[in-house]
Amino acid sequence: MSLAAKPASRLFHRLVCLLMIFSAITGAALAQQAVSIRFDQAARIFHIDAADTSYVFGINEHADLQALYWGKRLASGDTFPAAKASPEAASFDLSFTVTPHEFAGWGSGLYVEPDLKITFPDGNRDLELKYVSHAIDGDKLSIVMKDISREVYVTLYYQPDAETGILRRWAVIENRTSEPFTIEQVSAATWNLPRGTDYRLRYLSGRWAAEDTVNEQMVEPGKTTLESRRGTTGHQNNPWFAIDKLSTAGAETGGVWFGALGWSGSWQITIERDQLQQVRISGGPNSFDFGYRLQKGEKFETPIFYGGYSSEGIGGASRLLHRLEMDTLVPNAPHEKLRPVLYNSWEATGFNVDEPGQVALAEKAASIGVERFVMDDGWFGQRKDDHAGLGDWYVNPQKFPHGLKPLIDKVHSLHMDFGLWVEPEMVNPDSDLYRKHPDWVLNFTGRPRTEGRNQLVLNLARPDVRAYVLGFLDKLLTENDIAFLKWDYNRNWSEPGWPAVAPEDQKNVYVDFTNNYYSILADLRAKHPGVEIESCSGGGGRVDLGVIRYVDEFWTSDNTDAFDRLTIQNGFTYAYAPGVMMAWVTDSPTWVNNRTLSLEYRFLSSMQGSLGIGANLNKWTPEDFATATKMVAQYKSIRELVQRGSLYRLITPEHDSEQSVTESVSRDKSQAVVFAFLHSSGELYPYPRLYLRGLDANASYTLTALDGKVAETTPAAASGAYWMEHGVDVLLRGDFQAAALKLDRAP
Ligand code: DGJ
Repeated sequence: MSLAAKPASRLFHRLVCLLMIFSAITGAALAQQAVSIRFDQAARIFHIDAADTSYVFGINEHADLQALYWGKRLASGDTFPAAKASPEAASFDLSFTVTPHEFAGWGSGLYVEPDLKITFPDGNRDLELKYVSHAIDGDKLSIVMKDISREVYVTLYYQPDAETGILRRWAVIENRTSEPFTIEQVSAATWNLPRGTDYRLRYLSGRWAAEDTVNEQMVEPGKTTLESRRGTTGHQNNPWFAIDKLSTAGAETGGVWFGALGWSGSWQITIERDQLQQVRISGGPNSFDFGYRLQKGEKFETPIFYGGYSSEGIGGASRLLHRLEMDTLVPNAPHEKLRPVLYNSWEATGFNVDEPGQVALAEKAASIGVERFVMDDGWFGQRKDDHAGLGDWYVNPQKFPHGLKPLIDKVHSLHMDFGLWVEPEMVNPDSDLYRKHPDWVLNFTGRPRTEGRNQLVLNLARPDVRAYVLGFLDKLLTENDIAFLKWDYNRNWSEPGWPAVAPEDQKNVYVDFTNNYYSILADLRAKHPGVEIESCSGGGGRVDLGVIRYVDEFWTSDNTDAFDRLTIQNGFTYAYAPGVMMAWVTDSPTWVNNRTLSLEYRFLSSMQGSLGIGANLNKWTPEDFATATKMVAQYKSIRELVQRGSLYRLITPEHDSEQSVTESVSRDKSQAVVFAFLHSSGELYPYPRLYLRGLDANASYTLTALDGKVAETTPAAASGAYWMEHGVDVLLRGDFQAAALKLDRAP
C-alpha cells in the first residue's frame, strides 16, 4: 500500500526548498538558513530547524528515539546532552512508558497510545522498535527502526516546510517477515510537549449544518480523543488541534503547538496527559475496528501528520497553516488560481433542474459578475429527488433532451465557465447500477444494509468500483467542457464489510477506500489538468489536509445563514485558509433559521472567504441585482488579500460575542480589508473600537468604508501605527448590522 503519486507542484516546491538551502549555505540571500537538518554524532541528536521553529530529538541508551525539544527556533550552536531514558517512576510505571518517544511499538510495558501495534500469525503481539540508521536527503530526514528480533522495519520521515517551519511526519511499515501480519494500530507520529500543567487544548467539533465549533478545554490527566469512526473525515470532529499555555496565551501572543492530520478516512488524534504530567499527541487512522493485513514484502505508508509551532498565538498558528495550504498543499500551489465568483443552483432549483431553468439562472448570474456557473444535483439518471438515480451517471434525457452541451455553450457565451455536481461514491438502491451490481456496496453478507438519505456507499476499495468511478468521471470530463466538479458525499458508513475478499483482509477497506479516493482524484487531475474540484460532504464533512492535495476548495457548510456562518467560518479558519473556504450568498429569510438578513450583510459574511451565490435569482428585485453587482465588484477588488493574505481575528464570535470582526492583510502589507458584524446592540453601548493588525507601522494608509460608516473624527489617512494603536470606530447600531473597511497604503 502506498499513497498516490505526489503532484508535480510538490516536487517543484522541494526544488525551491533545496535552492533556498543552497542560497543560505552560500550566504547569499538569507541571514538564517531556512531549513537545517543536522545530526550531532557525539550526542546522537537530531536537530531540525525551519523558519522560526526547532525540533530536537535523540537516540537514547536503549536505541529508542526520544523527544527533547519542540518550540521556537534555537540558536544554531545550541547543543543538547545525549538523550537518556526517563527512570522507572515506580514499579507500576516502567521506564519505557514514561519516556517521551518519537514512535513506540506496543511492548515493554507501554501504557500510553502506541504508535504501532501488530499481531503476528503465531499470536505474538510484542514489538520493540530500535534505531538502526538514518539518512538526511536535502530537506528530508528518514530514520529506520527495526523490531529487536522480527523483520519488521519502520522508516520515520521528517520533512520541515521552509516557509512556515511546519514539520511533516509520517511512517512506512515494512513486512520483511515470511508471513503476513496485521497492523492493529498505527500512528503517523507522536508529538511531545514540554512538561506542563496549564495546557489548553482547542479543537473543532460539529455536525451537519453546524460545523467547526471551536472548543477549549484544559489538558487534564487522562486522554481526549478526537476522531471519526465514520469511514471519512466527518463533521463531528475535524483532524486538527492547537495547544497553548493558559499563563502566556493571547490571540496574537504566546506559544502555540498545533497539528493537523492529512487523512480523509476514519482517523483519531489523542491528546494524553500522563501520570507524570507529560503531554503527548498522536494521530493516525482510527484504531477502532482497524486491522490492516500487510502481506510479506509489502509496505504500509501512514498519512502525514503536520505539526507546527507559533510564538504569535493562535492567530499566528492559523496563518502558518493557511500559508502552508496555499503555498504548498493545494494542487496548483504556489500558483493556485484565485477562486472565481461562482453561482450554484442547489438552493434555487433543488433537484428540479432542466435546460431552460438553468439558462435563466445563468443569464441572471452573469449579469452580476459571476464567473462560474455550477449546476448541482438532479441532472442525471432518474433523479427527481433523493430516492433514485445515484450511480447512473448519464444525462437525464427528459431534463436535457440535447445533453449538457447547449447549457454549457450558453454558459460559455455568458463568459462563465461551467461546473457540475457529482456524488461518485454513492448509489441509490433504486438505480440501474445497484440492480446490476448489488455486491458493489459496503455490506456484511446476509445482514441488513442501512440506508442514509436513501443511499448506500459503494466500496471504493474494490478495483472494479474504482475503475467504474474513474471511468464515468473521465468520460464526463472528456465529453463535456467542464471546468469544475463539486464532489459530494452525503452519508457515513454502516456495515463496513467487504465480502469479496478473505475475512482477514476485509478491514483493509478503511485504508484502501481512502487511498483509492485519492488516486482517482490524482488520475482525474492528471488527465484533465484544467479541471478544478470542490470537496463537499453534506457541507464540511470532508475537510482535511489529506484531500486538500487534490482539491481546490471546500464546501464549508450546508448552513448558509449568514449569521450562523460567522461562527462556522470562524472555526474553519482556525485550521483552513479563507482561500479554500467557499461561502454562498443565499436567500433571506434563510431556510435554516427563518432569519431575515439584508443582502449587504449576507454578502459581507460570504466575502470573508471564497465568494459564491446560491440564491434564487428569479426572486430578486432590480435593487437586489444592483446591490449584488456592486458587492461582487467590491469582492473582486479585495479577493486576493482575502484568499491569500494574512487573517487576523480582531473579535471572534465565540462565547456568544455580540460582535465578529476579521481583518485580511495582503502579503506585501499594501492593502487590508476589515469585515465587522454586529449581532445586536444594547443599552446604548457603542461598537467596540477596532485595533487593526499586521500593517506596516511606518507606512501611511488611506481608509475607505466599502460598506457602513466610521466615526466622523476618523482621518482619511493615517499611519499603520495609528490604525493599530489608536484604532478606528465603526458606527454599527441595531440588529444584524455589518460594515467593511478597506485600507490602501499610500504610494
Ligand atoms: C449536499 C451539499 O452539501 C449541497 O450543497 C447540495 O449539493 C446537496 N448535497 C445536493 O444533494
